[in-house]
Amino acid sequence: MIEKIKAIRAELEAAEAPDAEAVEALRIKYLSKKGAISALMNDFRNVDASMKRELGQALNELKSYATERINALREASGRGNDKGGELDLTRTPAPLNIGTRHPLSLVREQIIDIFRRLGFTIAEGPEIEDDWHVFESLNFAPDHPARDMQDTFFINRTPDVLLRTHTSSVQTRVMTSQKPPIRIICPGRVYRNEAISARAHCFFHQVEALYVDKNVTYSDLRQTLLYFAREMFGPQTSIRLRPSYFPFTEPSAEMDISCNLCGGKGCSFCKGTGWVEILGCGMVDPAVLEACGIDSKEYTGFALGMGVERITNLKYQVKDLRLFSENDKRFLDEFVAAH
Ligand code: DAH
Repeated sequence: MIEKIKAIRAELEAAEAPDAEAVEALRIKYLSKKGAISALMNDFRNVDASMKRELGQALNELKSYATERINALREASGRGNDKGGELDLTRTPAPLNIGTRHPLSLVREQIIDIFRRLGFTIAEGPEIEDDWHVFESLNFAPDHPARDMQDTFFINRTPDVLLRTHTSSVQTRVMTSQKPPIRIICPGRVYRNEAISARAHCFFHQVEALYVDKNVTYSDLRQTLLYFAREMFGPQTSIRLRPSYFPFTEPSAEMDISCNLCGGKGCSFCKGTGWVEILGCGMVDPAVLEACGIDSKEYTGFALGMGVERITNLKYQVKDLRLFSENDKRFLDEFVAAH
């Protein structure tokens, strides 16, 4: 019997199998129930007890060698465990990495959703704009600094073609093409000629809201803002409106919310004040309504505009604005749970 074991081992050492079928033939020849090694196992029952120990060991060694050798030949023939027809259905599947939504998209969707519940519908406008929609119709004086090349990206001068610096341009796009009542929300990308740093970028995202109808008042604006702040940052949130100036609103205000990190007690994030600024707003200046062909004696309106990056920073404490546009997967993966 020991001779047979040696012979089979020699055969296996010399065996070649160029493809999966040849490997399978070898497996059947040596390892199947009717194969050569099983036959030896059967013979083993009849060997003399004095030989059992030695032969048993030799047989076991032969069996593991045969298994190893045939597996190696299978790998070499290019049809390993999970390739070709040799699918191993018992293997644990590799986890599917399906990616995450960008934090700015998540927050933009949340903002839109809140305004949608108040009856606002989405409006969009072009990113490449003209002076009239971005500045003139919105009451910017001819010498306003925003009209300077230092602040705005111009594609052409006379006639002016430029990248919009704010989504307020969508206000006038809509007011010149629709009759009131108008209740729109305009999300979009805007551009400013700024050096890129942790706190500024040459492009970012805004959401603008506009409501024009008969009898729209400042208290409608205030109530809308309070609703928005509480839906976005939680029911304990307070708001305050500080007088401000924008060419296209009168009166104008900036809205602060109670700091959502310290709950208004004062921390390093709110610089000890308990308040953080989140948006600009006001009653649409009658001159803007008139420029768009809307009778300012019959209609009034309110407008507001906010930076999506700003709101996202407040919700998720992102310290460096550049992270938003670098597409670093480690950063994006942090928002899986926010879905
Ligand atoms: N367009 C302003 C900006 O980019 C934001 C803004 C302020 C929009 C007041 C408004 C508003 O609609 O009423 O800074």
